Amino acid sequence: MTPTLSTSRGDVYITADIEELSHKAGEFVVELAARSVQQSGRFTLSLSGGSTPKSLYSTLASPQFRDRIPWSSVHLFWGDERCVPPDHAQSNYRMVNEALISKVTIPAANIHRLEGENSDPKKAAEKYEALLKELFHLQGARRPRFDLLLLGMGDEGHTASLFPDSAALTELQRLVVANYVDKLHAWRLTFTMPVINAAAEVAFLIAGAGKAEIVSQVFAGAPLPAAQVQPSNGQLSWFFDRAAAGKLSAAS
Ligand code: 6PG
Repeated sequence: MTPTLSTSRGDVYITADIEELSHKAGEFVVELAARSVQQSGRFTLSLSGGSTPKSLYSTLASPQFRDRIPWSSVHLFWGDERCVPPDHAQSNYRMVNEALISKVTIPAANIHRLEGENSDPKKAAEKYEALLKELFHLQGARRPRFDLLLLGMGDEGHTASLFPDSAALTELQRLVVANYVDKLHAWRLTFTMPVINAAAEVAFLIAGAGKAEIVSQVFAGAPLPAAQVQPSNGQLSWFFDRAAAGKLSAAS
């Protein structure tokens, strides 16, 4: 796929609206899934919460896309989760289940859910960390290398559940942590930045005029969580609608 812009922060795809963003990102997923399955026999995909990623999931479940992805070889993970049961309105798992999982044939064994319902968020994080080490055959301090890790971005620059000034943002050893988010007065479960930056491909999905200012700050190098996403040995892509890219200069 040919990006609109190639910048120091990665490839930028600017689309007319969220529908076109979702289709463009959908083609990106189809391409990566085929390549990953051909190379390793599976496609490890880490999902994000948020309304913009949700639009992509619905698109992947649509007749135009769902038969183009080898679902039996796809393994789904979550890059973050709210500390709620999987049937809760705020659950990222529930969102993905409604938008995608319930509409495609993917083996239950390939769905690796973060246990938001666990009354001890720290235990839930440790369990997921152990699952990652098993599924990625990790030894020592190695980190899982996702074939594709999807991210959204909040209007204050958070990504996954790595919020500005939150403790998890500076965690460099752990893979998954429980993170108390002051502004939400709530615990979250989240990948740490080292896991995000270990991925082979990372793609942000960002839409809406409300994100234009924070996008321009991230691309200007402001010290925001989303600006810390710089895959150490992988590719970074940004899928925007025109509104969210409204303040991006070509010199970015
Ligand atoms: C979450 C997400 C979060 C989300 C951003 C963007 O669990 O809320 O992981 O990081 O991606 O807040 O969300 P929107 O696309 O809805 O603006």
